[in-house]
Amino acid sequence: MSDRKRILTGIRPTGALHLGHYAGALENWVRLQDQYDCYFLIADYQVSDYADDIARVREGVWEVALDFLAVGLDPENGSFVIESLVPEHAELTTWLSWFLPLGMLERNPTLKAEMEQIEAGDERSAGRSVPVAFYNYPVMQVANILMPRAHLVPVGEDQLPHIELTRETARRFNRQFKEVFPEPEGLVGRVPRLVGTDGNAKMSKSRGNTIDLKDDAETVARKVKSMYAGPPRGASEPGIAAENPVFLYLEAFDPDQAEVASLREQYERSGLPNKVLKDRLTAVLETLLAPFRDRRARYEANMNLVRDALEHGSRRERILAQETMALVREALDLDYLAKHGDVVREPAK
Ligand code: TRP
Repeated sequence: MSDRKRILTGIRPTGALHLGHYAGALENWVRLQDQYDCYFLIADYQVSDYADDIARVREGVWEVALDFLAVGLDPENGSFVIESLVPEHAELTTWLSWFLPLGMLERNPTLKAEMEQIEAGDERSAGRSVPVAFYNYPVMQVANILMPRAHLVPVGEDQLPHIELTRETARRFNRQFKEVFPEPEGLVGRVPRLVGTDGNAKMSKSRGNTIDLKDDAETVARKVKSMYAGPPRGASEPGIAAENPVFLYLEAFDPDQAEVASLREQYERSGLPNKVLKDRLTAVLETLLAPFRDRRARYEANMNLVRDALEHGSRRERILAQETMALVREALDLDYLAKHGDVVREPAK
């Protein structure tokens, strides 16, 4: 095993990844993959919303793996891990749930928000009951991060409360039993929260306001063309750049930020046609996404490589997971049989 510090980060296999994932997290993963021993987890235990549709989960696993490869994660260097191929995750989740007080979960804002959403009964959750698995997600995520004894967790901003929960759990465990887990740090990407193409606060698949990493050139051009570009305004009327998502995207993805600053100045002083901004954005995104698309196509033509990446990565993490579980069992003093081996009676002669 390498002596580099370790990264664990993950994503639920619910479908194609988008620009928000990239700017909020994936970009950091690519940047850090040589410095750290990385575990990129595909969290298939955490998709109980698709429990009646395993075909979709399977599809999601492959989609996510292809997106990982497309953005340039190197499966030789880091490990692509399917969560359920490392069943130690389930075991650690069970032990940790003994020690995680419910109150700690109830304070977790992600869980709170999701519960409220279900109680409000939006169209996605209408008529559904809440699966028990749902309460397990935060504990599982803690187990995911602690399993390889990770030091760093690069994620989107919305995941930070889970990292705080993980730090608290690590502290408690280490204090109460034995020093097993490092206290992991969170790391948020350059663009913590990317607005959706509709101007909504967050790009997300359920809102249908994404630009996906695998979108082809025409799709990207079409999505940019119909993008929300701030309150209605004549082409020669000044606008407010911060209210125009097209600007926010240029600020997030355009390599020539000096030019973006000058466009912004013009836009706010004397106005600029949205078409100028949108054409520029289309070109900028094409430059970013074209290499992803090419890499993806190369792997799509050779899916055995994707399979190998998932298989080898999962196997690699499992070795580390078994090491961690041995430490956990020892710390919890769970070795029932060995402990009382000496009092087992000799069979009567
Ligand atoms: N909960 C994360 C999400 O919804 C996915 C995830 C699962 C994760 N396990 C993780 C993220 C561990 C970071 C670390 O996106």
